[in-house]
Amino acid sequence: MRVKLPFADAWLVHDPAAIKHVLVDNPANYRKDPIQRRILAVGLGDGLLSVEGERWDIQRRTLAPLFARRTVIGLTAAMLSAGRGLVERWRALAPGEVIDVAAEMTLLTLNVLALTIFSDGLSSDIDEFRLAMNTYFATIGRIGALDLFGVPDVVPRPGRKRLKQAMGYFEGVIDQIIAARRRRLGFSQRPGPAADLLTLLLRALDPSTGRPMSRAEVRSNILTFLSAGHETTANTLAWSLFLLLLSQSPEWKGKVRREADREFGGPHEGLVDRLVVTRAVIEEALRLYPPIAALSRSAEQADQVGPDVLPRRALAVISPYVLHRHRTLWERADEFDPTRFLPEPKARITRYAYLPFGAGPRTCIGASFALQEATLVLAIIVQHFDLKLAPGAKVWPQQKITLRPANGLPMLIAPR
Ligand code: HEM
Repeated sequence: MRVKLPFADAWLVHDPAAIKHVLVDNPANYRKDPIQRRILAVGLGDGLLSVEGERWDIQRRTLAPLFARRTVIGLTAAMLSAGRGLVERWRALAPGEVIDVAAEMTLLTLNVLALTIFSDGLSSDIDEFRLAMNTYFATIGRIGALDLFGVPDVVPRPGRKRLKQAMGYFEGVIDQIIAARRRRLGFSQRPGPAADLLTLLLRALDPSTGRPMSRAEVRSNILTFLSAGHETTANTLAWSLFLLLLSQSPEWKGKVRREADREFGGPHEGLVDRLVVTRAVIEEALRLYPPIAALSRSAEQADQVGPDVLPRRALAVISPYVLHRHRTLWERADEFDPTRFLPEPKARITRYAYLPFGAGPRTCIGASFALQEATLVLAIIVQHFDLKLAPGAKVWPQQKITLRPANGLPMLIAPR
């Protein structure tokens, strides 16, 4: 479908074959669009999410081992520890106290990233760090008319000053941590003081040239992991809890609880692979409420996509939200049914009909990290608590960089 926008000619692409063409078969013709890059540029400009061309190639190759399955499995203990921290906090709540579970999930996913990137802590005050992050996300989330119309960056944007201040704070904290870690690692290649993502990042070498990343790239990528990894995963958890605990699904809640009771009693090794039902719930939540609800690309050259020719500079927009609820691709598209993602039915899902993590070369590098984290944490929560929506609360999705509950998720929490 073609939509004429004041600033671009947008083509909404929702046919799996056409999606494959844009994202997988001809990605060289479809760059991340300039609007996205303009918004992300502050602070993330040298990171994997924003770089293009050869720089992207090198970074992706260099960073791949950080998110390989073996590395991610090695982060299980840190993820469980953040989950246990949440259980302790929630156990201390006064009976009948209402808390915003969406905000709680944001805090939790930030803690998971802090523990997995900097296993020896943030050194600075975590609350101050969080405040700076909130300012940062609140400001980059605002797409102004100046950005849409491509007005050059020299023209001041509202909120940019606050954004720059938050960035300055971040960069200072992260630089201190990097410097301290470099000192502790010395020049040796012995196993470091902590086998966390920061150590892996500092030691990562481009496999073809053997070169490490520059200081700006290391810093930008830490910010990229924090930005790309915390709110997306937090929303996944918030929506999973919404679907599982509030909406009409005692059956699935029971299944997840029984699985958690059984599997947390066993060895930690292979734990995440044994939480099959919990993972299916997460994947179904990602279908109904994909945190990245739309992907967009800009066509470098005119290109034949299915029956249409996309002109040069056209925006190709693929919306996982639309795709995942498309009635020609999904049976009972609006219904919450995690059975779809149990191993056998999952194998029958049409390719490119399910894209919570995108597809092709620029697919999410953190997908296994996110799925593992969300699965473990959901299982822990359901094992320990009963959650109920606060009386009078209305839950509705809102697209603000990520797809989140518009007014949070106010809930009453009772220990099981
Ligand atoms: C449920 C949680 C997550 C979702 C739904 C998600 C979704 C996505 C999507 C859709 C893309 C592709 C965007 C595009 O093609 O335009 C992407 C890219 C990316 N994601 Fe995630 N993500 C999640 C978690 C994470 C985590 C935990 C990390 C890192 C710790 C991460 C790091 C990245 C990076 C660095 C990219 C850019 C990859 C590249 O361009 O090569 N994401 N993510």
